[in-house]
Amino acid sequence: MFKQDTIERFKGIETPFYYYNMDVLRQTLDACRDASSQYGFHVHYAMKANFNTKVIDAVQAYGFGADCVSGNEVKAAIEHGFDKSKVVFAGVGKSDKEINLALDADIFCFNVESIQELEIINGLAKAKNKVAGIAIRINPNVDAHTHHFITTGLDENKFGINTWQLNDVVDMLRKCTNLKFLGIHFHIGSQITDMEVYKNLCTRINEMQDWFENHGFAIKILNTGGGLGVDYHNPDGNTIPDFESYFKVFKKFLNVKPGQEVHFELGRALVAQSASLISRVLYVKIGQKKNFLILDAGMTELIRPMLYQAYHVIENLSQKSKVKSQKLESSDENKSEIEHPTSEMKYDVVGPICESTDCFRKDVDLPESFRGDLIAVRTAGAYGEVMASHYNLRDMVQSVYSA
Ligand code: LLP
Repeated sequence: MFKQDTIERFKGIETPFYYYNMDVLRQTLDACRDASSQYGFHVHYAMKANFNTKVIDAVQAYGFGADCVSGNEVKAAIEHGFDKSKVVFAGVGKSDKEINLALDADIFCFNVESIQELEIINGLAKAKNKVAGIAIRINPNVDAHTHHFITTGLDENKFGINTWQLNDVVDMLRKCTNLKFLGIHFHIGSQITDMEVYKNLCTRINEMQDWFENHGFAIKILNTGGGLGVDYHNPDGNTIPDFESYFKVFKKFLNVKPGQEVHFELGRALVAQSASLISRVLYVKIGQKKNFLILDAGMTELIRPMLYQAYHVIENLSQKSKVKSQKLESSDENKSEIEHPTSEMKYDVVGPICESTDCFRKDVDLPESFRGDLIAVRTAGAYGEVMASHYNLRDMVQSVYSA
């Protein structure tokens, strides 16, 4: 729920923009830190979810590590003060240039996704006379039961090394004298809300660590990846995920041996609820079959609905605020009028981009809306601003912050 003075502030700002509620961000980070630290678990922030400077500074201040998927993310993590001993570099296609940059930065670990990559990192490390810490990303063939576009842990996905290749992995590791084997890494998908999925993952991790140990490779790090989902349907838009239940599953089902560390790579769950995309209605088209609200934000600002059919709560802040101010001024005589102050309409809420898919959602129930109304698309802090583009040569979306 936006406070009235926040909505008043929005009125003076050019749209579209992302509005970051830094209190919600800090409350989320508090909750994650409290829940993970009780078990001694290590959390790395998956920077790909949002690398907005203020967001990563806030995350860094909590002492979390950084999970990076490009050389530029590694660079940004170091520049923003993340401890290099807590920086991990993952990704299925690391270029030589990116590997060299990470070697020069002396990061903690590369999460390696193919046998060929092991060979390449070993060679590049040798040329620098360095030893690179590595973890093997295993594709565990565990179904994340999430949208198929964001599932990563099945045999058919490009990510990780399949279990039938593990004999070749250990053969290669024995040859690679400039690699230090630290442990095993998994990531089975994103927006996972069913804790049973994580229980199944734990079973696979336990099997895999036994396999490595039986082949003479001690495991220091068990990296379970990320993927904890958030509530995109809550009308209030900023519920903090249930970190307690999430970490409890790993505490209960993961076989953690003395001296081992358990690592997590959370992105969405840490940042999604802290931001909304704020835009204005440019035009209202009332049709015979459909009504359209045409916003000044579209797939160039937030592509999730168009790319994954993702659901986000959509609110008309201007009409809501009118309702509120009428209520405040109300006396008993006009109460019934105030309870039904505006008529509800159905709109397809669309953007200005020249693509038919540029639609946030069809048939959205909203109060009757007008040109200039402020529209909020909620829970947009993860994979929102970072996936914005210049398509149609539009300006890049701006950001605004609470105190
Ligand atoms: N670790 C690895 C290896 C990953 O690939 C990802 C996300 C994460 C951690 C963090 O996952 P999270 O905790 O945020 O679920 N753009 C999509 C999501 C793509 C996720 C990519 N990998 C979306 O908007 O839903």
